[in-house]
Amino acid sequence: MADTQSRSGPVSGTDNAMPGDQEPKKLFIKTYGCQMNVYDSDRMTDALAGAGYAMSETADEADLIVLNTCHIREKAAEKVYSELGRLRILQAQRAAEGKSTMIGVAGCVAQAEGEEIIARAPMVDLVFGPQSYHRLPDLLTRAKAGPVVETDFPAEDKFEHLPAPAREATIARGVTAFLTVQEGCDKFCSFCVVPYTRGAETSRPVAQVEAEARQLVDAGVREITLLGQNVNAYHGLDGTGETVGLAGLVRRLSEIEGLERLRYTTSHPRDMDDDLIAAHAELDTLMPYLHLPVQSGSDAILKSMNRRHTADDYLKLLERIRAARPDIAMSGDFIVGFPGETEADFEATMQIVREVRYASAFSFKYSPRPGTPGAELTDQVPEEVKNERLQRLQALIADQQTAFNSACEGRTMPVLFEKRGREPGQLAGRSPYLQTVLVDTDLSQIGTISQVTITGVGKNSLFGKIVT
Ligand code: SAH
Ligand code: SF4
Ligand code: F3S
Repeated sequence: MADTQSRSGPVSGTDNAMPGDQEPKKLFIKTYGCQMNVYDSDRMTDALAGAGYAMSETADEADLIVLNTCHIREKAAEKVYSELGRLRILQAQRAAEGKSTMIGVAGCVAQAEGEEIIARAPMVDLVFGPQSYHRLPDLLTRAKAGPVVETDFPAEDKFEHLPAPAREATIARGVTAFLTVQEGCDKFCSFCVVPYTRGAETSRPVAQVEAEARQLVDAGVREITLLGQNVNAYHGLDGTGETVGLAGLVRRLSEIEGLERLRYTTSHPRDMDDDLIAAHAELDTLMPYLHLPVQSGSDAILKSMNRRHTADDYLKLLERIRAARPDIAMSGDFIVGFPGETEADFEATMQIVREVRYASAFSFKYSPRPGTPGAELTDQVPEEVKNERLQRLQALIADQQTAFNSACEGRTMPVLFEKRGREPGQLAGRSPYLQTVLVDTDLSQIGTISQVTITGVGKNSLFGKIVT
């Protein structure tokens, strides 16, 4: 999981045109955290397009700057305050030139800290949580009269009120897209802030998701990643009032003509049901890559984390998944140095990694988060022990990633071309296993899938040749 995500390229379209010949106002959004924030930033951009804002490449020329923040670890939250320090200077410089700059803080830090943000950074005009993005144009109007903090969980369905992106905006965003289908979390892992920042688990109705997917595909999207903090807990209502699980949703979306690939993230082991496993065996559109965090290999730590499964449950689940889809590439998340973690507990984590053989995985030092039960535990692990364990785990994961990538050399696999590569005449695409594959071919191939033979393995990408 990257700490900052960005999407470049201005979004222009007729929707941004202003009445008369007035220049559109400029918007700059900086996105931290997970893919759901990337999705949300696009939806905020869409909501503000209707209010006359066009995206700007840099913060320097923006009339409105929004930080879409992440609260998952202390470092992520602190970044927001250092960024606000920089923005204060920018705001003052622009004011000296007679230009006003509104500053908004959105996302999970906004939800968690609310008023506290204005207290620490009084130049902020607007603090608003993830459930109020559809109210953004209205909140902006209110913020002109003084600082606004909006962190309630409104009763109305945000997704019903968020405008769809203009077709041009979707086209500019490329041939792969995120689509949030589920939000919030009821699991309350003892280390995690998400249930507090994103609220209770909710699923969007099937028809709403399907309509959004069709619009994306109509604008050239070929691969959709369904998002949710607990995406495999999805249980949306269909037109007949029945509840549909993620497998059912994926089956429906697979029928959309032109939608070549589907992925989903992030999953919880307890919600990986037989139907979803069967969908992996059944559907060619469902890509053989699964992000299924286990967090630790020690049962004592898993219990203290309130994960409500054991290491063995996870391994048995994996056996069933691999029986359905033998080539599935596994990914996961790990936390080292959770309170009470002994050397033996950590060794159990190393052991589960060895047994699973991950294609890629993310690992983090435990960061005590205010308001979570984990932060109250007394046997916190010293920083230097966390550092040392993280290094050992990351070295093992890196070896596994290299092994997984090296095993692809000589194989032929379908690659979806997404964008220009680093070198001229080169495109960057994705393998079914989410690896970046660099191939010499021309720009017109963006959005198409070709059979590619993997000819080389780099540090972060594979190299390939189209099979002719
Ligand atoms: N919903 C996802 C995880 C969301 S947070 C899931 O259940 O898997 C993404 C990852 O951040 C988590 O999987 C966990 O590994 C890590 N994380 C969450 N809280 C953390 C904390 N307090 N300290 C360190 N890492 C944390
Ligand atoms: Fe956080 Fe656990 Fe919920 Fe994932 S399942 S979002 S780690 S509380
Ligand atoms: Fe961060 Fe919120 Fe996502 S805390 S990881 S931005 S759900």
